[in-house]
Amino acid sequence: MTTDPVKFAYWVPNVSGGLVISDIEQRTSWTPEYNRKLAQIAEAAGFDYALSQIRFTAGYGADNQHESVAFSQDLLAHTERLKVIAAILPGPWAPSVVAKQIATISHLSNARIAVNIVSGWFRGEFSAIGELWLDHDERYRRSEEFIRALKGIWTQDDFTLRGDFYRFANYTMKPKPLHPLPEVFQGGSSRAARDMAARVSDWYFTNGNTPEGLKAQVDDIQGKSAETGNRVKIGINAFAVIRDTEAEARAVVHEIVAKANPEAVQGFAHEVKNAGKSSPEGEGNWATSSFTDLVQYNDGFRSNLIGTPQQVAERIVALKDAGADLILLGFLHFQEEVEYFGTHVIPLVRQLEAQRAKELVAAE
Ligand SMILES: Cc1cc2nc3c(=O)[nH]c(=O)nc-3n(C[C@H](O)[C@H](O)[C@H](O)COP(=O)(O)O)c2cc1C
Repeated sequence: MTTDPVKFAYWVPNVSGGLVISDIEQRTSWTPEYNRKLAQIAEAAGFDYALSQIRFTAGYGADNQHESVAFSQDLLAHTERLKVIAAILPGPWAPSVVAKQIATISHLSNARIAVNIVSGWFRGEFSAIGELWLDHDERYRRSEEFIRALKGIWTQDDFTLRGDFYRFANYTMKPKPLHPLPEVFQGGSSRAARDMAARVSDWYFTNGNTPEGLKAQVDDIQGKSAETGNRVKIGINAFAVIRDTEAEARAVVHEIVAKANPEAVQGFAHEVKNAGKSSPEGEGNWATSSFTDLVQYNDGFRSNLIGTPQQVAERIVALKDAGADLILLGFLHFQEEVEYFGTHVIPLVRQLEAQRAKELVAAE
């Protein structure tokens, strides 16, 4: 468990439809104007990171999608401290382009850009844009080479890589990104995803889960990291519904699920089971997701940040105890709820963390 303060990130709604596949009212918009203001609210509220999403096409009603790197750069230009994580999909992107693009954004933003290397789960998207669909574990082999290429180009002169997917020959890219170098996050929870994290990623992002479910993954990854020497930090997704009483918060989740769009959720379920089935050990991100879980498309209800500020703060600390370094948050009404979270929840988390630190010192 880390003794550092737990970090907070929010999902950038650069995709229409919000973060739940439901017809419930959502006061959230995917426009640049809404997102610029949201980023400013988030950094004032104490958020550390914003995570943009990449979709070339949608399978569950998210009809409009702004591209992640360009959108991230715009958010950086309108903020001062917030770090922005741009989602990158190997396949459509080549590491040569991403290394260069992100290095320039590092200079433009005073080193506040990071990347989330996603490996692809949606076969229909790949077909639509004419990209070859690789088997599950092959997608991770490609992502791992992609990350090795980025890190090599960012840190070495005369970089050479003779991979199965990418080739570089004595490549010196200038300028290199500013320091600290862009952090490399990854999304995905399967065996291949965890092994890749232990070898090359700085951060591992996983779907919503219980503290016990998270701890099993963390123990697995940290066991492997001990062998590779790559210390991986852990981020977990959660959809937060925080109200004055737990009953009110639960009622909101009930309404989200009751107003779910069944066709869109079933369509999404079909796609992700396709992706999950192709993971040989069957432990991928959506291996056990129920209909309710899928209404928040990264199992965000499972993390149970649903209740009063005090309850949610305690559950965040429980996730931290289980190994989370970062909590990634989605909300129904982003601008209002990110601000509320900063005022009512983050200070309680900091109090609980300080109390925990004192207990640890006393126990020594
Ligand atoms: C926090 C998080 C963010 C993700 N963001 C994206 C994204 O923007 N675009 C995308 O295509 N996939 C995204 N993914 C999907 C993953 O990269 C991966 O393809 C998926 O989780 C399936 O992984 P698995 O079956 O190997 O566990 C994200 C996953 C997580 C956990």
